[in-house]
Amino acid sequence: MLKKLVEISIKLTSEKNPDKLLELIIVSALDFLQAERSTVFLIDEYTNELYSKVGTGVNAKEIRFPLDKGIAGYVARTGESLIIENPYEHPLFNKEVDLKTGFVTRDILTVPMKNVEDKIIGVFQVLNKMDGKFNDEDKEYAMAFASIAAVAIENARLIEEQKKQYNLLQKAYQELQAAQETIIKQEKFATIGQLASGINHEIKNQLGVIMAVDAIRKMFPDNQKIQMYTQLILDARNRIVSLLDEIRDFAKKKDYEKTQVNLIDLINRTINICRFDKDLDTMKFVFEPEGNINPIVFINADKIQQVLINLIRNAGHASEPKSKIEISLEKQDNFWLIKVRDYGKGIPDEIKEKVWEPFFTTKSSGTGLGLDICKKIIENHNGEIWFESEIGKGTTFFIKLPEMVNQ
Ligand SMILES: Nc1ncnc2c1ncn2[C@@H]1O[C@H](COP(=O)(O)OP(=O)(O)OP(=O)(O)O)[C@@H](O)[C@H]1O
Ligand SMILES: [Mg+2]
Repeated sequence: MLKKLVEISIKLTSEKNPDKLLELIIVSALDFLQAERSTVFLIDEYTNELYSKVGTGVNAKEIRFPLDKGIAGYVARTGESLIIENPYEHPLFNKEVDLKTGFVTRDILTVPMKNVEDKIIGVFQVLNKMDGKFNDEDKEYAMAFASIAAVAIENARLIEEQKKQYNLLQKAYQELQAAQETIIKQEKFATIGQLASGINHEIKNQLGVIMAVDAIRKMFPDNQKIQMYTQLILDARNRIVSLLDEIRDFAKKKDYEKTQVNLIDLINRTINICRFDKDLDTMKFVFEPEGNINPIVFINADKIQQVLINLIRNAGHASEPKSKIEISLEKQDNFWLIKVRDYGKGIPDEIKEKVWEPFFTTKSSGTGLGLDICKKIIENHNGEIWFESEIGKGTTFFIKLPEMVNQ
């Protein structure tokens, strides 16, 4: 018996998972004490209850009852080990369970489980000795077994607690790191904001000179070409002004003014602007809206145009000259889906998350703000933006804009 007890002790103390340990205690107890059933009841100090897991794995069910109930409760409270030879005649015995399950309890041996500080942490119970009845020797063995089990349970709990603490610490550390990153980002934004408002005024003054083209327009009202080019210059000036405002307000979040806009018109206008962009002038633009659609949305046209220009410029930068840039527009459920597709070099897996970060760029003259601004604008419109990309094949950016509903 002693040898067996040592073996059990080694087995139990090396199981670190609390649930598996309980199963192991129950199985070892049946063999060690030659009993038909065994149960471990643990004390829940918060609720003053005893609880026990019935069954194993996914079928495990928990039963709970107050500490002042039944034989287990009595042993847990008093610390007295108990052999009950005729349970059906014992006032503490609850016949209900047997009545329900059809199991016949012949005798019960119940011992307290004490930890190293002699504190009762639960109760260990075996039912029906295989041959004969539980005797005082069994009681002694059961007590020895129970104290080994108690130590093993406490160990497993400690390890579990340590793991929890470690995870909490880990989480706290990650949160701290994230908070720090946010602070750094905000700091960067604030610096840009300051810088921008400093130069904003000066740039706007210079932009004022561009308004001279307005005079040229008026001088040649019938010259189509002059009208078209000067309009492009004026549009570009307006975008620069709104970009300057955007950079100045970078750290602040604000809602844009929105109006009803036809997406087909907006995309056509945007492509026209891009044709005059020196980085894009060899590109072949293909715009294919789905047939029979009336894509009216409630947006800030300048901002959405800014998004499209950013995506198209990125597409151009990633492509060989004369490549195709395809733009499509389709209706899906209750939103409009715009795709900007290029056949360029693609985005490598390792930077796929990073491209959205402000200041992330792989270009010598990029600011790395393009996609960050796109994301903010689309989110402000309650939309979504994402991409799919394959190295050497190209990239598609997707924009989802909510369908206009009674705005
Ligand atoms: N269509 C694309 N194909 C390949 N790489 C892309 C594409 N779009 C974006 N990228 C990658 O994502 C990075 C970040 O893009 P983002 O538009 O934010 O900044 P940028 O284009 O580098 O600079 P800018 O602020 O001038 O736009 C790019 O530097 C590029 O590496
Ligand atoms: Mg860009």
